[in-house]
This record gives sequence, C-alpha cells and structure tokens, in this order.
Amino acid sequence: MDNNAIKNLKEALAFSPDNVPLRLHLAEMLLHAENYAEAEEQYKLLIELSPKNQQAKCGLAKACYLQNKLSLAYVILEELCHRDDTTAEYHVMFAKVLIKEGMKSEAQEQYKIATDKEPMTTDPELDALFKVPMGDFDDMDDEEQDSFGNKSYLEKPSTTFKDVGGMNKVKEEIQLKIIYPLTHSELYKAYGKKAGGGILLYGPPGCGKTHIARATAGEINAKFINVGINDILDMWIGGSERKLHEIFELARKSKPCVLFFDEVDALGANRSDMKNSAGRHLINQFLSEMDGIEASNDGVLVLAATNAPWHLDPAFRRPGRFDRIIFVQPPDESAREQILKIQLKDKPVKDISISDISSRTKEFSGADLKSLIDVVVEKKLIESFKNGTIEPITTKDITGSIAQVNPSTKEWFTIAKNYALYANESGLYNDILDYLKIKK
Ligand SMILES: Nc1ncnc2c1ncn2[C@@H]1O[C@H](COP(=O)(O)OP(=O)(O)O)[C@@H](O)[C@H]1O
Ligand SMILES: [Mg+2]
Repeated sequence: MDNNAIKNLKEALAFSPDNVPLRLHLAEMLLHAENYAEAEEQYKLLIELSPKNQQAKCGLAKACYLQNKLSLAYVILEELCHRDDTTAEYHVMFAKVLIKEGMKSEAQEQYKIATDKEPMTTDPELDALFKVPMGDFDDMDDEEQDSFGNKSYLEKPSTTFKDVGGMNKVKEEIQLKIIYPLTHSELYKAYGKKAGGGILLYGPPGCGKTHIARATAGEINAKFINVGINDILDMWIGGSERKLHEIFELARKSKPCVLFFDEVDALGANRSDMKNSAGRHLINQFLSEMDGIEASNDGVLVLAATNAPWHLDPAFRRPGRFDRIIFVQPPDESAREQILKIQLKDKPVKDISISDISSRTKEFSGADLKSLIDVVVEKKLIESFKNGTIEPITTKDITGSIAQVNPSTKEWFTIAKNYALYANESGLYNDILDYLKIKK
C-alpha cells in the first residue's frame, strides 16, 4: 500500500513539481516507509522550494537523525527550537538528538519544554529516561527500575465512547461492571456489592476491542496501560513473572487506571507452547495478581481482549477474574453508519449518503471501514493535486472502492463456528450461535 502510494505521489509530482504540500506528503510517506535517504532528499528539495518551511526543516532533521547524521540534525533543530513559534515535536526531536550527543541535561530541558507545551507528548525513549511513569519509585531499587526496560506503559487516552460507533451492549456492560463501581463506589458498598473482576472481550479482529478499551480510560479520565501480546510473550520467554507483578503494581500506583491485556490468549494454557513450566508459572502469577486486584482493587479496572477465547485457560473465567465475557460482533448497519461518520469527520465531503455505503459494506469490520476510507482519501489526494483543487469525497468515490477492501470478519467465523458448535461448554459461545442464527 505504501509503495503504491509513493509511486502515485511521485507521478502526481511530475505534473506539479513545485507543489509543496504534495512533496511534504511524499517525504512523510518515505520516512514512514523507512526510506530515510530519499526522504532527506525530498526535504532538502522542499527547503529549496520554500526556505521558511519549518515542517520541512523538522522533517529533514528527523531523516538525518534516523540516519545518524547527528550534527546536521543538531544544527537544524537548534535553529528551529529557538524560534517563538515552536511545536512540541521540534523539542522532542531536539531532545532525542541531544541524548545521542551525550547531552542529557540539555535533552531533559528540551523534553520538559515539549511536555509543557503539549502535555500529551510521549516518546518511549525519553519517557523512560525522564518521566517517572510508574508513580513514585521511592521503594524500588535501581535494578527493579531497569527491569521495566525502556518501554513506557502508561497512556492518557483522549478518545471516549463517542469515538466508538455502535457497540452499545459492550458500552453498557463496561459502564455497569467497571465504570459505575468506580464512580459510584458508595452505592455499590451500600448494597454490599464488591467491585472487581474484569471483562473479557472476544470476537473477530478489527471490530473495536482495543479501541473501546482505550476509550473506556478516556471516558473516565483514567490512565491506560496496554499490555500487548509481545509483552506477554517476552515475559514468559524470559521467565519473568516479576515483570508482570510490576505492571500490576504500576496500575495500582496510577489509579484510576484501566489495565488492558490485549490478545490475552497468549497466556492460554491450551497453547502447546505454554504447557511448559515457565508458561504455567506465568499463568499462575497472572491469576494471583487478578485475585490481588480484587483485594485492593479500588480504581484499577481490568479489561482483556482476544480473538481466540478458546485458547484461554478456563481458570481465567472464575469469579473475580474475567467473569464477564462479552462477544464483540461485527458492526451492524447502524453501527457501520456511526463508524463511517467518525471516519469521515473533518474530511471534505459532498452529498454523502452514509446509509447507502453502510448497506453495501456487510461483513466489514470497523478496521475494514477505516481502510476503505483510507483508500478513498489517498485517491482523492492524488486527484486533487493533479487538478490543483480540493476535491470533496462523494458517495460514488466510496462505493467505487468497496471492491478493493476485503471484509475480514468471515474467516474468523468459520473457525468460531466450530468451537461454538462442538466446544460450547456451559453455553459460553451462545452469542456466536445467535449471531450466525444457528439454533442451540
Ligand atoms: N466500533 C468502532 N468505532 C470506531 N472505530 C472503530 C470501531 N471498530 C473498529 N474501529 C477502527 O478500527 C481500528 C481497529 O480496531 P481495533 O480496536 O484495533 O480492533 P480489535 O482490537 O477488535 O482487533 C480502530 O483503531 C478504529 O479506528
Ligand atoms: Mg486489538
């Protein structure tokens, strides 16, 4: 996709070589495609075309930095960062260059300017060095800090439920089970109802599991810790239950906090590679941490997601653990309408018939709809540059591109159907059967 877009952009540029926004876009695509040398060349051309273009200068600095041409990057950024109208990005880049040059305190200063300007600024490398992302470390020694590696787990999402189309049932469950116990804790206590336990989301890929987990944190202004499949696999390859413990500790220290385990099936005992003892230890560790959350839970909300719930150890489903299991189904027609509206927000459109598009995109996941719009935007961009005008997106543009996107949910259902039919212990997968309109 990137390569094709780059090729198209180059063709469009042949028509209008002085088009600055188009060339900027190309340079960014090249950076993104890790073609740093060509990106550098494009940024240099841009600065010739438009000597005051700060975006191009910052891009050039980035391309140089990524090729380890540090002194050039340094000179550019020093100039950029001493202007009055800087952005956080310039200071972040400068900080990264300063680190490589061994100027740690200057780097810290620059990173502070960046985070003051734009509080949401994060950069894994700089966060690890300068932020103390895991609450306070007074009671930990240096070695423990290091074992976190240089990855910063803490996020502060800005998306909320209104950025999530459809999924009404999932939103309701999350509200009842984990948001209200936090926001109305007195009420829950009055009825002797304990908060705690987590929600496990399962369903086909691309239908919004990760998206809604992040939005849950944004909805209640909480921090978000996303532990992905790779983190989990790294932990068990390294035999490191301690790291898992530290993540739970981090959540407790950062409350209110949504602790999210993405693709939690990586912890599943049904995977043959998890049957060895390191895997077993890690699972046990996880389960006892979950139980510990119940004991001292206030303010830590646990969510997990998986595309393959059948790989998950049944012990995860006991009360107080993931005792609420929710099927996240592909968006229905009205959910698709909402997702399309979200995806088209802030884009130039004309006379769009959302219902027409959503009725023609059965079996599309939210992610498929997003890539449909991406394809259309890319086409319009090129068209606009060739014609020198901003062309609004029309219904026809979108319906004409539908064939280019393959709905990705079908394959999942062929697998899921088998589990639902033949391994449906205690009706665990009834929702799948209902969705497929198969009689139980
Ligand atoms: N219900 C939805 N509302 C809005 N966007 C969605 C929705 N579902 C999916 N998306 C879009 O698709 C992308 C991928 O979805 P994701 O949450 O990663 O899927 P999953 O975790 O279920 O595999 C999201 O980042 C979002 O842009
Ligand atoms: Mg996901």
